[in-house]
Amino acid sequence: MNIDGKPYRTIFPDPDGVSVQVIDQTRLPFAFALKRLATLDDAAVAIRTMIVRGAPLIGVTAAYGLALAMQADPSLDGIDRAVATLAATRPTAINLRWALDRVSANLRQVQPEERFVRAFAEAGRIAEEDVASCRAIGAHGGQIIADLHAATGRPVTVLTHCNAGWLATVDWGTALAPIYAAHERGVPVHVLVDETRPRSQGAALTAFELNGHGVPHTVIADNAGGHLMQHGRVDLCIVGSDRTTASGDVCNKIGTYLKALAAHDTGVPFYAALPFSTIDWTLEDGIREIPIEERDGREVTHMTGRLADGGFATIEVVSPGSPVANPAFDVTPARLMTGIITERGVCLASAEGLYGLYPERRKAA
Ligand code: MRU
Repeated sequence: MNIDGKPYRTIFPDPDGVSVQVIDQTRLPFAFALKRLATLDDAAVAIRTMIVRGAPLIGVTAAYGLALAMQADPSLDGIDRAVATLAATRPTAINLRWALDRVSANLRQVQPEERFVRAFAEAGRIAEEDVASCRAIGAHGGQIIADLHAATGRPVTVLTHCNAGWLATVDWGTALAPIYAAHERGVPVHVLVDETRPRSQGAALTAFELNGHGVPHTVIADNAGGHLMQHGRVDLCIVGSDRTTASGDVCNKIGTYLKALAAHDTGVPFYAALPFSTIDWTLEDGIREIPIEERDGREVTHMTGRLADGGFATIEVVSPGSPVANPAFDVTPARLMTGIITERGVCLASAEGLYGLYPERRKAA
């Protein structure tokens, strides 16, 4: 996707061949800066501190992190230690575990001296596959938007939560890919962007992306969505996912569930868009089984922003001394959703729907 007309990816190999570059998302939307990751520690810190974030991008960064670790210690113990370090960075997005399993299984098949090159190449393949998956999600989901436009003759208003755009993946995004695809086809689309407190990924990142790519949008306060749905001002909701169970429960950024409840009550179609690497086939009950990341309460008590003079400030916004809680994700039960958009097509949010798209995942009877 473009920033000021220049195409970027969120992560790419450095020309030195032994490190990677990422976009530092903690500095957006006010500063665009790249950061070089050269070691296991660099990658782990980048994921933990959310220099990179979004389930698919976390997975790709972890894959490169494991590769970088092989430069320092390519032993079997070195693989185990690097996997443990990277797996501990963020608990909810399953893409992280999926990517580490894939790269480490590959590494165990080759001699230590081959492991860095092997892992770096495998991480690159995961990145390319992510781009292809997201592009295909865009094509399938873009058709939903195009059909809605054909049916109503009006621009299609899509509400999204958090940032599930190209900044959360390698390129294109998941929830935003259908929007970019529709926009590119000339289908008029307007995006309602939930600000997404406490970290404001919607206000800071989704708005930045849509601005950079020239897609019409409006940022709304998190609590506005239900009201807008009641008044017929939302045609469709599309969100991303950090982990989706085999039964179609979708775990995504905190607040997604409330939007799904409102959409269900008002009859607004509600879709989650996600690649296969976000599906955890081992889980059935998302509410009980998916680990939910609890983040620092300071994200709730404080906000950082730009001052009128161009400087930056972090200010306190909660009554001093009040206890706070900061669960980072919630689970939307499958029954509240219209469907799931994947790289293989659109299905019902159910076991039948998902196994219909991925028949090879059915367990042998
Ligand atoms: O905490 P974050 O910013 O990593 O959370 C991101 C989300 O919740 C996204 O919606 C999700 O990862 C899907 S990304 C394509």
